[in-house]
Amino acid sequence: MGSAQLSSDYYSGTCPDVLTTIESAVNTAVSNEARMGASLLRLHFHDCFVNGCDGSVLLDDTTNFTGEKTAVPNNNSLRGFDVIDTIKSQVESTCPGVVSCADIVAAAALYSVVALGGPSWTVQLGRRDSTTASLTAANNNIPAPTLNLSGLITAFSNKGFSANEMVALSGSHTIGQARCTSFRARIYNETNIDSQYATSLQSNCPSAGGDNNLAPLDTTSPTTFDNAYFTNLQSQMGLLHSDQQLFNGGSTDSQVNTYSSNPDTFFSDFASAMVKMGSLSPLTGTSEEGFVGKVEDEEVGLGMRRRTAAMDLSSAEEKWSTHHEVPINVVASFKKIKAAIDSHSQLASILRNSNKLVVSEDGKKIRRQHPLTGSDFNILSWILIYFSVACVCGT
Ligand code: HEM
Repeated sequence: MGSAQLSSDYYSGTCPDVLTTIESAVNTAVSNEARMGASLLRLHFHDCFVNGCDGSVLLDDTTNFTGEKTAVPNNNSLRGFDVIDTIKSQVESTCPGVVSCADIVAAAALYSVVALGGPSWTVQLGRRDSTTASLTAANNNIPAPTLNLSGLITAFSNKGFSANEMVALSGSHTIGQARCTSFRARIYNETNIDSQYATSLQSNCPSAGGDNNLAPLDTTSPTTFDNAYFTNLQSQMGLLHSDQQLFNGGSTDSQVNTYSSNPDTFFSDFASAMVKMGSLSPLTGTSEEGFVGKVEDEEVGLGMRRRTAAMDLSSAEEKWSTHHEVPINVVASFKKIKAAIDSHSQLASILRNSNKLVVSEDGKKIRRQHPLTGSDFNILSWILIYFSVACVCGT
């Protein structure tokens, strides 16, 4: 894995005022709209988890590649591009051709957290911008909100993070908003949710329609970066399925308790984990995308067995293992996709986009190209949640 040499004084000779410029632009943006602080923090996360913090999340589609903006986790969801564009042009006017967009995104995340009352850290600089981007890698690497605790731990461990760091970083959900489509299944179907909280959310998130209606991830203090996210989890008031997984009788409960009673510990763990996240580098050598190596296939394939079970595909999986091809109707979760579409051929085209499944021309049979990987599972999860929205957008 390549590791860029980052330092806090990277621009001290070439663009000494860069951080002041970024800080003041972020403060303006956040005072115009507090949620923008959350959006800029998430932008950095979605940049770093997809082939490293290289600014690739900002790139529009070109003839050579389809960018990450329309990946399922990002489409109609990721925000803050205009703020980054504004900062970039301000910085270009004083230090042309010097400061990378990836560094601007990293510093904007810091000043966003600070502007909303959160901890500060020393932002490391010196990232290089990518000239390409990967929609597939975005779909595969950004964790889906349907994941159970084991899936969340695996998604972060794939990027070198411990379960403790995953919990600390999840504390980002103490600010910002989510769309109804991201939490609908939780507020109608799940039992580990405070019933009054679920009912109140249902008024603005109907069981059908209203996919883009928003609710705060932290119901008590949505525009303050504090530890209320963890206190809410203790009261079964996590908005996303994945949020409540952190406090659901499992191995991370004790850390949620610690952060809930000790905000300073949360702040300091969060700041350290953000520095680590900001140092994720683009992979070099063997491309992560596609898992071309045999060893990777086997390793991730093993992990997949557990995650498949979590997604309730277990009965289908056994058949896949032996026959490699099964009628779609035995795969329980595909029924949800089928319900949202008109024809088998439309289903076939959706599943083909998952890249790893071969679908017969009539759309009635699917076949694995190779053992399903963790990232295969992740993209299928995203498709399951967001299919209806993607459909409205004309897919
Ligand atoms: C632990 C796994 C995570 C999952 C499953 C997850 C999932 C999500 C989802 C589904 C949304 C709402 C998107 C929408 O409905 O439009 C969201 C919002 C958000 N996420 Fe995460 N996230 C995770 C971790 C993180 C991390 C590590 C960060 C930052 C370091 C982060 C920062 C945010 C922020 C700030 C928002 C609100 C954005 C806004 O209001 O514009 N999340 N996340």
